[in-house]
Amino acid sequence: MTKKATFQLEFENHVKEGLTAFPKYLSSKYIYDERGDELFQQIMALPEYYLTQAEYNIMNQHKSELRELFSAQGAFDLIELGAGDGKKTKVLLKELAENKVNFTYIPVDISQHAIDDLSNSLTELLPHLEVKGEQGTYFKVLERLATYNTRPKVIIVLGSNIGNLQHPQAIDFLKKLKEVMSCEDFLFMGFDQKKDPLTIQNAYADSQGVTQEFNRNLLHRINKEMDANFPVEQFEHWESYDPETGTAKSYLIATEPCEVILKKLDITASFKKWETIHCEISQKYDDDIVEWLAKESGLEIANIFEDEDKMFKDYVFEIKKIPS
Ligand code: AVJ
Repeated sequence: MTKKATFQLEFENHVKEGLTAFPKYLSSKYIYDERGDELFQQIMALPEYYLTQAEYNIMNQHKSELRELFSAQGAFDLIELGAGDGKKTKVLLKELAENKVNFTYIPVDISQHAIDDLSNSLTELLPHLEVKGEQGTYFKVLERLATYNTRPKVIIVLGSNIGNLQHPQAIDFLKKLKEVMSCEDFLFMGFDQKKDPLTIQNAYADSQGVTQEFNRNLLHRINKEMDANFPVEQFEHWESYDPETGTAKSYLIATEPCEVILKKLDITASFKKWETIHCEISQKYDDDIVEWLAKESGLEIANIFEDEDKMFKDYVFEIKKIPS
């Protein structure tokens, strides 16, 4: 089966499960088709969505330190999971290239379209940079890289993408990353920090309604790909940040009762007025939580980088050295 067919089948099974469950849910990982990618770009440019600028500032402020850390052991592979448009990564790539560091940049993304766009823009920006894009799921690609690569690796995961995972899943993810790492490798990962709850709430409940359109795109996509008839405009976005757990949760809420027929799945989903679909979590962290996640995964924090406004942190992890 082709990658695309496998993905489609997973998506359909997920929708079937999520819409027949109580309470209903759908995963945000299916928001990202071409339109979803575009809406996420718009989110990153929103004044309320502080995450992108904060991490950009970290990269910009600490680029020479990062260059020294990553290149200390000579030539290496820089593997980015979920590369997207690479706006933040370009700061680091430019720093490395301008200082003649010997490395290959390997952006990994589920979308071939995203990799092609990024590769093309990099050819213009840094013509001498060696880029080897890899299309696929994170782990398929990492497994491949772990077997044929002999150079040290720096794996980077920016944007607090890990925040879409509940803690047990995040530990699973980190464990899998650890399994493909060697002693000399680094993992560089962004974690959005706990802060004034209102700042977080506003980042996901923007005044222009872009986040609402982003979430609604999931319903549009189901309508298109599963021959369904969600009355999309009757679903409103709701965001709820819980400062105790550090979890921001987003919902789509039916403002009118409706019957949604999903022809391709051969199911009907009935919604009562004010019934919810839980779509996404965006977990917020502090050092204690990240330390705990690292410990549970067999990793160790080697370094922490923070922006001046204290909004966001990038952590450098190494695999835990067995005490001798
Ligand atoms: C891409 C997972 C980091 O949770 O902050 C942005 C996605 N959702 N606004 C996040 C998102 C709504 C974003 N991540």
